[in-house]
Amino acid sequence: MKRLSLRRPAKNQQKWAQGSVIYQIYPRSFQDSDGDGVGDIQGIISRLDYLKELKVNGVWLSPFYPSPMADFGYDVADYCDIDPLFGTLEDFKQLLSEAHKRDIKVIIDIVPNHTSDEHKWFKESKRSRESKYSDWYVWKDPKGYRGDKPIPPNNWLDLFAGQSAWEWVEERQQYYLHSFHVRQPDLNWSNPSVREAIKEVLRFWMRLGVDGFRVDAVIFLDKDPQFRDDPINPHYNPKHGTTYDKLIHSNSVYWPKVYTYLNELSAVLIEKPFNRQPKFMVTEGYVQRDNTDVISEYLKYYHGMNSQVAAPFIFEGIERPLSARDWRAFLRDFHGTLSSLGPDVVSPYAFGNHDQSRIVSRYGAERARALSVLMLTLPGMIFIYYGDELGMHDVSIPKEFIKDPGAVGGKGRDPERTPMQWSENTAAGFSDNENTWLPLAHDFKAHNVEVESKQEGSFLNLYKQLISIRQSSMALRLGTLRVEGETDDHIMAYSRQYNTERYTTVLNLDDKPKVYDFTESGKVVISSALGNKPTTDNLHSYRLKPYEAILIKHPNN
Ligand code: GLC
Ligand code: MG
Repeated sequence: MKRLSLRRPAKNQQKWAQGSVIYQIYPRSFQDSDGDGVGDIQGIISRLDYLKELKVNGVWLSPFYPSPMADFGYDVADYCDIDPLFGTLEDFKQLLSEAHKRDIKVIIDIVPNHTSDEHKWFKESKRSRESKYSDWYVWKDPKGYRGDKPIPPNNWLDLFAGQSAWEWVEERQQYYLHSFHVRQPDLNWSNPSVREAIKEVLRFWMRLGVDGFRVDAVIFLDKDPQFRDDPINPHYNPKHGTTYDKLIHSNSVYWPKVYTYLNELSAVLIEKPFNRQPKFMVTEGYVQRDNTDVISEYLKYYHGMNSQVAAPFIFEGIERPLSARDWRAFLRDFHGTLSSLGPDVVSPYAFGNHDQSRIVSRYGAERARALSVLMLTLPGMIFIYYGDELGMHDVSIPKEFIKDPGAVGGKGRDPERTPMQWSENTAAGFSDNENTWLPLAHDFKAHNVEVESKQEGSFLNLYKQLISIRQSSMALRLGTLRVEGETDDHIMAYSRQYNTERYTTVLNLDDKPKVYDFTESGKVVISSALGNKPTTDNLHSYRLKPYEAILIKHPNN
């Protein structure tokens, strides 16, 4: 008897990534279960019902691995375990099974570019040039000596401190490269053993049952093999930008093998037996925007990796100016091109994350509400950063509480990493301990899950409605995208269609009201403007308030 069919993923398992909504959890900040003021895995488990109610399809967890926390877990000391601060491997297995019971996929963060300096690979590598791990990191001789002082191999800078990316090690009389924190030595990806070791890490977690990966800082995986200097940036302005911006990073990042290496990783996701359950991988790479066509930069990933199981984050919601003209052009060209690659190709959109100022702080509450309508009606995979569904804003952190190493060279990321706001209770219900690892927002009593759940028109209820409509609609999850009426510079509209089901999203990005004439009649099912209710009649036009976004449902033909 043929048993092949058993190997195939069950129908409802297929393509879960397409159209899905994924919730990013920063484990330190989501829910503390043991009163140490730091979030943990049992905390996450205790909040899964909230995520179920929100109707998200999955979570992405930022790192939880053993780590000295120089970069709060993005400095991994062991890829196959859990830091005691967050719990144990048993806790993680419990999280997986509890999430899966609720039909929630679990995506974990993989940090392939660097380890912690406390990883055993690095300790061995550093110890001697004879060690098995000698070539696992990027070691270089000094360029020369000034007196008896070694000179770094080139001018590359680290992204956090904006100082030399090279650190001298006495034992080896050599420098190692750290593109990020000095305690995050870069792995040597040109070494096949390194690549194999990271692939083994993916296999380890897939064996446990994880559904996918978010792959960190991929643009650093391939560098100029000749290690030439980065050119000086003639436009550097210390008032904006960080010291890292003194150079143009044309040699230290984004060399072509980035895609080759990522393709190797994506191939692991379809190895037997992992291909029995569909897996998905999203890569973090902010594309170069100076003098380059952004869309072709994204396409390099789609062409480079197996696009059935992997896609790059689309960061337009972070990088692109919020202008209707700009966005219309992007959506038309990008989705036009993507659809020519096939129906399964996924666009993972993130409008915020643990490295970016919160949406509300970037745009104000009104526009942030309008953006949620845009975000949750786009094709592909939509990533929500925890707390954005409450309209959480950046919290200004007094100097003595600053934690992020990125705060040294420029703007820190603590403001967007403050504890989740659950209720009016102690520490916003995040912890029993008032001393939370980062301070809470002062206004948490007004903006939290408990209060907003009961409040008509709250951010939370807007998100809930949007996610719920998306989940019930083939058009919003899987439909085609067509950019509509380009009559006004500040109006952006596009429709999503699947068979006869059709929706149109309209955003007024102007600070003045605007009348929008529908191309086809329909009911307004969602409005981002406070106090505006869904309509019961089929309308032909609608007067949008400043910064209002609406979702129109057209009657089925
Ligand atoms: C990625 C992460 C960021 C981290 C860096 C180094 O950009 O999102 O938080 O600091 O990589 O791992
Ligand atoms: Mg804790």
